[in-house]
Amino acid sequence: MIELSEQEAKAELAQLAERLGAANRAYHQEDAPEISDALFDQLKQRNAVIEAQFPQLKRADSPSEQVGAAPADGFAKVRHAQAMLSLGNAFEDSEIDEFAERVAKFLGLKASALTFTAEPKIDGLSLSLRYEKGQLVQAATRGDGQTGENVTANARMIASIPQQLENAPELLEVRGEVYMSHADFAALNTVQAEAGAKTFANPRNAAAGSLRQLDAEVTRSRPLEFFAYAWGAHSEPLAETQHQAIARLAALGFVTNPLTKLCAGPAEMVVQYRVIEAKRATLPYDIDGVVYKVDALALQERLGFRATTPRWAIAHKFPAELAWTRLEAIDIQVGRTGALSPVARLSPVTVGGVVVSNATLHNEDYILGRDSQGEEIRGGKDIRLGDWVQVYRAGDVIPKVADVDLSKREGTARPYVFPQVCPECGSLAIREEGDAVRRCTGGLICPAQAVEKLKHFVSRKAFDIDGLGAKQIEMFYADETLSIREPADIFTLAARDSKQLGKLKNREGWGARSADKLFEAIESKREIGFARLLFALGLRHIGEQVAKLVSGHYVSWDRFISAMDAAQGEISEDWIELLNIDGVGEVVARALVTAFAQQSERESIDRLVAELQVQDAEQVASDSPVAGKTLVFTGTLEKMTRAEAKARAEALGAKVSGSVSAKTDLLIAGPGAGSKAKKAADLGIETIDEDGWINLVAGL
Ligand code: IVH
Repeated sequence: MIELSEQEAKAELAQLAERLGAANRAYHQEDAPEISDALFDQLKQRNAVIEAQFPQLKRADSPSEQVGAAPADGFAKVRHAQAMLSLGNAFEDSEIDEFAERVAKFLGLKASALTFTAEPKIDGLSLSLRYEKGQLVQAATRGDGQTGENVTANARMIASIPQQLENAPELLEVRGEVYMSHADFAALNTVQAEAGAKTFANPRNAAAGSLRQLDAEVTRSRPLEFFAYAWGAHSEPLAETQHQAIARLAALGFVTNPLTKLCAGPAEMVVQYRVIEAKRATLPYDIDGVVYKVDALALQERLGFRATTPRWAIAHKFPAELAWTRLEAIDIQVGRTGALSPVARLSPVTVGGVVVSNATLHNEDYILGRDSQGEEIRGGKDIRLGDWVQVYRAGDVIPKVADVDLSKREGTARPYVFPQVCPECGSLAIREEGDAVRRCTGGLICPAQAVEKLKHFVSRKAFDIDGLGAKQIEMFYADETLSIREPADIFTLAARDSKQLGKLKNREGWGARSADKLFEAIESKREIGFARLLFALGLRHIGEQVAKLVSGHYVSWDRFISAMDAAQGEISEDWIELLNIDGVGEVVARALVTAFAQQSERESIDRLVAELQVQDAEQVASDSPVAGKTLVFTGTLEKMTRAEAKARAEALGAKVSGSVSAKTDLLIAGPGAGSKAKKAADLGIETIDEDGWINLVAGL
């Protein structure tokens, strides 16, 4: 149990969503990770722990619901016939016992009846290969799990990917990991450095950068390899068990991992984990853990998936690598929402084969040796300039500080004093109650906030304006005559340009063509969807998912704005209506109402909207018969456990409640149903039995 008040939990979940979201984008879209894998995993786990304790606070944009990031521009998009999912993580041996118990309980079986496979978790990037009539017809990256990038031409350049299969099912999607060996990675970096080209931070980034080449000839020159370990859509089963299916993939000509082993239960799984861990240093490729999978495919099927991870598999991660170095300086970066984020500048040090020189320090409490609950971290040791710090990473660039060596601290070292004013604009920086982060109060007068907001505004999931990226935003922000200081200025740019002498086309780096193209790109975005607009504003706590929920509820921008104005009085009907939107909690509601009530922010938004045609949002409909319905299960279910029934219902978009009320849409009553069935009958609620339920959802 963690000791958090509901308010603290909410605040921390919001913060985690923001940090994990940013890390995800940096990692998946830019092949340029910002935080270490280990830190990412830790944050994600922290998020899961808080969500488990406060399920009512789970955010619509919860990081536990997100896999990867949407595809980058440049490649055609491919919608996966079957979603490509991620894996849940475990770090301790005890979590493996818990995993096996959870699986057994879900299935209503004895733990001893289960067998699992254990295999290395390859640190590369996943790829889905579609074979029709034995021919490779499409290769796609994972992307956000639903939609990936079409990299077929590139995949054809990888020697260990068969172009053609003999005796394969009509349709077969083979999934696995593309990776680069250590030796090939080192050789590639040497060649890149000699050519003055970009070098890669680690083999995984090199593999990702090499596969996602618009010119497949470049991919051909890069030594990529592929391990097959899973499958997606298929016209006939590969086998009855995971290990046989892998053997079948090997027989079809795929390379499968030789360290895969069948295990009778958690004890044997952990033994295989130690075996693989001991071999890790001598393997020619990077691995970051061991993956366990329920062996019987029929059981995998019954176990199914949570939002983004299968219930039948888990990744047992290796602990992170460590190194000592000196803390040279602490820089403060100011983000879009004014957050002051301290960044450690380190003497460059090699950690697990990669040189690192920056680490995140999160916030002032973290520097002082306390977590957001005021609990001690690093044994309560604070971090001071000049300290020897132990940093860790597990494959990525920016690591975290694990420890401080007090014996090496100089006598003159003084505790770090966190700035109380914004280093960018000088405004007061304050910490609100329950917030671990100190924020600049300068709003749009703070150049750092304004620039970060603008960058967000033009980013891919927001206005996505071609030719107007982070670099151009910085240029226009600083421009005296053709400045962009707030979003509305983007849409007046062409008009202002036409009226003045120092035209864009005459500037360095621009020409008539590029200037016209930019104006056209801007013009084409005047018509914008409500959800996109709301997300693009970059308001604190208002992520993409929340923007969708809110816009789906109010449908029109005008109705939304009047509702925000009317929701000022906190007991107003409009405030309640806002809070009642599924997925909108108090933090989000307050953030919205405050943002629209803040005069300068509001005027800036109004100026922007005056330049736009905002399209109404669509109300999302679903084709499942139980989508949006509230169901109650009662009595004994004979064909599945309660957990399985509940998971199935939720996967189909239903809500499952424990008690019958006027809000219940459907009761599923097994033998022995008592008071709930009676109450449902009294309320006139439709009631079906277990077979009725199975028929209702069969084939969905
Ligand atoms: S199974 C439905 N097996 O790890 C689960 N994944 O963190 C399918 N990965 O997206 C994945 N080695 O890119 C599986 N032996 C292995 C793996 C493996 C590496 C990657 C894969 C996945 C990610 C999840």
